[in-house]
Amino acid sequence: MLIRLSSFSYTQFQRRWTDSIASDNPRFIHFPRIGWEEAGYRQFLFLKSQGLKTHHKFLDLGCGTLALGNYLIEYLDRGNYTGMDISAKALIKGRELVERRIGREKVKEKRPILIQNRDLTFSEVIGQAFDYIMVFSVFTLLPIKHFEEFVLNIEKIINQDSKIFLTILLGEHTHPLSFPTPLSTNLKHEYDLNLVQELLLLNGHKMGIVDTNEHWGNSLSERRVALLELSHR
Ligand SMILES: C[S@@+](CC[C@H](N)C(=O)[O-])C[C@H]1O[C@@H](n2cnc3c(N)ncnc32)[C@H](O)[C@@H]1O
Repeated sequence: MLIRLSSFSYTQFQRRWTDSIASDNPRFIHFPRIGWEEAGYRQFLFLKSQGLKTHHKFLDLGCGTLALGNYLIEYLDRGNYTGMDISAKALIKGRELVERRIGREKVKEKRPILIQNRDLTFSEVIGQAFDYIMVFSVFTLLPIKHFEEFVLNIEKIINQDSKIFLTILLGEHTHPLSFPTPLSTNLKHEYDLNLVQELLLLNGHKMGIVDTNEHWGNSLSERRVALLELSHR
């Protein structure tokens, strides 16, 4: 029998994977493995060190079960937190976890916007401009084609001063497949830094590598995970 591999997209695969973890163990979806609270708190402290204030509009792309949202929903002004993920299950479970910590009333009052997206074209949030965007531990799981889609479309939802942070896994062997196979799902999605830089420059962005030592010790760098900051050229 001929199996049409490309009929099962990587996004569908990721969605099923996240759905199942979110159902079984919602506090498990995060990186590095330092505990759900701790993982979110470090991202939160990092963002504050980068000038995040309560009035900023924030997009947490690939937010999972809201490890970061757990702190940002409480911190930001009403309506300023948007969490987006391909897994509706993660969003539901994440909201429950945040409600457990800060209370259902508080979450309601803060009006977080939680959106299930289909792809990285941002059709779900078109017309908005975010001051800060965090994409933490998302592209590390995805073929570079998804990063390319992000770079081609991000312009739609930022302004001249927006700050964008994202993690990638550094390596030379960019895996070309855009659909999962039993083998490819075990591969790490390394991106070639020169290719990433070229892609960004061609699309009007410049890139800096953030020193993660202060907030994550060596837990990112020892796994060759780089935190990038993107801005307009
Ligand atoms: C390792 S988790 C990281 C969650 C969160 N950012 C954190 O730091 O705790 C990766 C998340 O990315 C989501 N994801 C994967 N592909 C995505 C896509 N194309 N668009 C949005 N989210 C995606 C997964 O569903 C999962 O929740």
